[in-house]
Amino acid sequence: MIYKFCLLGKIMFESLSGKKVVIIGVSSGVDLAIAKKTAELGASVILSHPSQDKLNEAMESLSGQIEAKIVDIFDENSVNTFFEEVEEFDHLVVTSMGDRNMPRSLLAEMTTETAQGAMAKFWGTFFAVRAALKNIAKNGSITLTSSVTIFKYSKMGGISAIAAANAAIAVFGRSLALEISPIRVNVIAPGLIEDTSSWTSQSESERSDLTKWATSALPVEHLGQPEEVAQAVLSLIANTYATGVILPLDGGVTLL
Ligand SMILES: NC(=O)c1ccc[n+]([C@@H]2O[C@H](COP(=O)([O-])OP(=O)(O)OC[C@H]3O[C@@H](n4cnc5c(N)ncnc54)[C@H](OP(=O)(O)O)[C@@H]3O)[C@@H](O)[C@H]2O)c1
Repeated sequence: MIYKFCLLGKIMFESLSGKKVVIIGVSSGVDLAIAKKTAELGASVILSHPSQDKLNEAMESLSGQIEAKIVDIFDENSVNTFFEEVEEFDHLVVTSMGDRNMPRSLLAEMTTETAQGAMAKFWGTFFAVRAALKNIAKNGSITLTSSVTIFKYSKMGGISAIAAANAAIAVFGRSLALEISPIRVNVIAPGLIEDTSSWTSQSESERSDLTKWATSALPVEHLGQPEEVAQAVLSLIANTYATGVILPLDGGVTLL
């Protein structure tokens, strides 16, 4: 068993060592965990975020070959300029979401503005992937982030437009896996992840309820951790046979 884990680590190290990995959106949680693991495996990493202060903060918590660049994924021109400056690279990871302060809304009360705000996540992903195509290596990969909401619908309701944006990303990714091959394109669909900005934006009592729920209801008996998502993203990047995959990483919530 130990041998298998060592072998897996060796495969990941060999496939990432010396490669250039671009991560869109880095300040905390999932994206920071991906940056950390990628740098540990010997890749050079480009972090990106709209705020220089947040980039400086992220840089301080990381070691390895790391560079930071400003980008606003929701601004087409900013994304195009960013990728021109990045020049040639091997792997792209897009984690950022839309407006996290966007209210949940049942369809009957949903404003057009709220619905369009939800789709920002898709448009940001589209801007990034389109601009990345000019300089990404033919044997490289793109990993996009969707959500478990594309498989598991909430009884509470109110997330139909967000789920639609996440589904658009998943279908966009699978469709591109054919269109732009041999570049590989995969999509990760996480469940609830602790220590992310969406997590910290919830009240203490909401977080406590969710933790209790995860312990008692989820087959894995805990909430997702950023490092667990990072491991899954890295295996999609490193596995040269993986393309067109939509990978649910949800602690088994879709089984319930
Ligand atoms: N967290 C969960 O439980 C969960 C569940 C299902 C799916 N997901 C998906 O997993 C991904 C990561 O989740 P998360 O909660 O870690 O998301 P997040 O923190 O809201 O977004 C990821 C990163 O994007 C950055 N970002 C924000 N605005 C940006 C912009 N205009 N340009 C570039 N980067 C920007 C964020 O920085 P700031 O923090 O500074 O804004 C953050 O570092 C998202 O796609 C989310 O939809 C998460």
